[in-house]
Amino acid sequence: MKLFIDTANIEEIREAHSWGILAGVTTNPSLAAREGRNFREMIKEISDLVDGPISAEAVSLTPEEMIVEARELAAINDNVIVKFPITAAGLTATRAVSAEGIRVNMTLIFSVNQALLAAAAGAAFASPFLGRMDDIGEDGLVLLTDLVDAYANYNITTEIIAASIRGPQHVTQAALIGADIATIPFTVLKQMMNHPLTEKGIAQFLSDWEKLQEKAAQTAAFGNR
Ligand code: E4P
Repeated sequence: MKLFIDTANIEEIREAHSWGILAGVTTNPSLAAREGRNFREMIKEISDLVDGPISAEAVSLTPEEMIVEARELAAINDNVIVKFPITAAGLTATRAVSAEGIRVNMTLIFSVNQALLAAAAGAAFASPFLGRMDDIGEDGLVLLTDLVDAYANYNITTEIIAASIRGPQHVTQAALIGADIATIPFTVLKQMMNHPLTEKGIAQFLSDWEKLQEKAAQTAAFGNR
């Protein structure tokens, strides 16, 4: 499963990128608004840094405007892909721009049917929102399981991005279910590398190593007498 980061914060992206694990970035208008920067400049900076798909969301509502916006966003860099919400306008725009070679990440997916429509319109990626399903008392992982199965039945090549990830368990489960990609907030990415036994193990190794150095120093001191 490829790991994307779900943020528009350049410092978070820079740090996660420095770990050598990032295969892409997703942003959305809410994440962009938190940064208070010029959106297109921000997408340019991110897409120069990370070698992988960078999702930039269109905010227009009619197919005609969405198509124009998608062309502008895709022109920012070769690796910029356009996010459209799953609406009739979004589907029309997806069909049009994917015919031009612009890759679309269809977002705000909450049902298998929406994901089937996204694939049929030619979306390169479909983003089911796990956490937001959980928020309304449904199970986002059930949606993901059904979606992976449905796409597999027909060898659909639209890549599934497990989105709206709320914790490390979501990531583990998404990998076990078979999502192609998980897009993960920075805090969760950091939690993924932690385990109390790892920290304990490092402390033990370092303390044993210290003891060895002390022993070696004592042996050397005796040897020189
Ligand atoms: C995905 O591309 C979205 O940006 C994101 O995962 C939404 O997550 P949220 O529900 O935490 O806002």
